[in-house]
Amino acid sequence: MTDSDIADTISAFASAATAARSIGFDAVELHGAHGYLLDQFLWAGANSRADRYGGNVPARTLFAAEVVRAVREAVGEDFPLIFRFSQWKLQDYGARLASSPFELEEIVGPLADAGVSVFHASTRRFWEPEFEGASLNLAGWTRKLTGRPTISVGSVGLGGGDFLEQLRGSSTEAPIGTLDELVARMRSEEFDLIAVGRALISDPDWPAKIREGRWSELQPFYKEELQHLV
Ligand SMILES: Cc1cc2nc3c(=O)[nH]c(=O)nc-3n(C[C@H](O)[C@H](O)[C@H](O)COP(=O)(O)O)c2cc1C
Repeated sequence: MTDSDIADTISAFASAATAARSIGFDAVELHGAHGYLLDQFLWAGANSRADRYGGNVPARTLFAAEVVRAVREAVGEDFPLIFRFSQWKLQDYGARLASSPFELEEIVGPLADAGVSVFHASTRRFWEPEFEGASLNLAGWTRKLTGRPTISVGSVGLGGGDFLEQLRGSSTEAPIGTLDELVARMRSEEFDLIAVGRALISDPDWPAKIREGRWSELQPFYKEELQHLV
């Protein structure tokens, strides 16, 4: 992308967010995860730029920070702006943006300063520690480093293989997993919100059953249910 492509893209993000607000949405979420455009700048595996947008972690974060700043200016101070990000990429599950809390802070710090109100840390299993030496997951570390509310996600309500393994066929069934660990992590304020994907595909009443303690009525998720969607 040339400098002019970058300027056009930043203003396109800002006008899309303005449109979302004007037609009545309550928040916007910028997709900075999974190998999409913002993530291609963030990730050393995709970003080989020799200009100010490439090189070290702060340079690779600049484009996403400029997008966030433009969106924040466009939607105003009080409008929730969520930033979704991930270590893993669709083309490389083992990829990492940050190999230490220090590197993570170099990414999420400038994004928070630019105007992110909530971070959505996309992980495949919410219970996995992000870095050695602490049990915090990626959302937990991001909350600790930025003080911003965070959303966690990944195999909530499911046991067995995660969603990528199921899509690739190496695991077919996700039996219902225990929610005790999730509840414990939320009670300890590791993160503020939890996102739920596949459990809702197999059981649209999942939130109501959880709220009412009807855990024995939850329906397990099977990979076959995805084949109608992908
Ligand atoms: C069929 C399917 C399609 C998905 N498509 C997207 C997508 O387009 N963008 C995205 O950010 N995440 C996508 N995801 C990931 C989900 O947003 C979510 O992070 C993931 O399923 C983990 O949550 P879960 O374990 O509760 O299902 C998809 C997941 C599945 C199963």
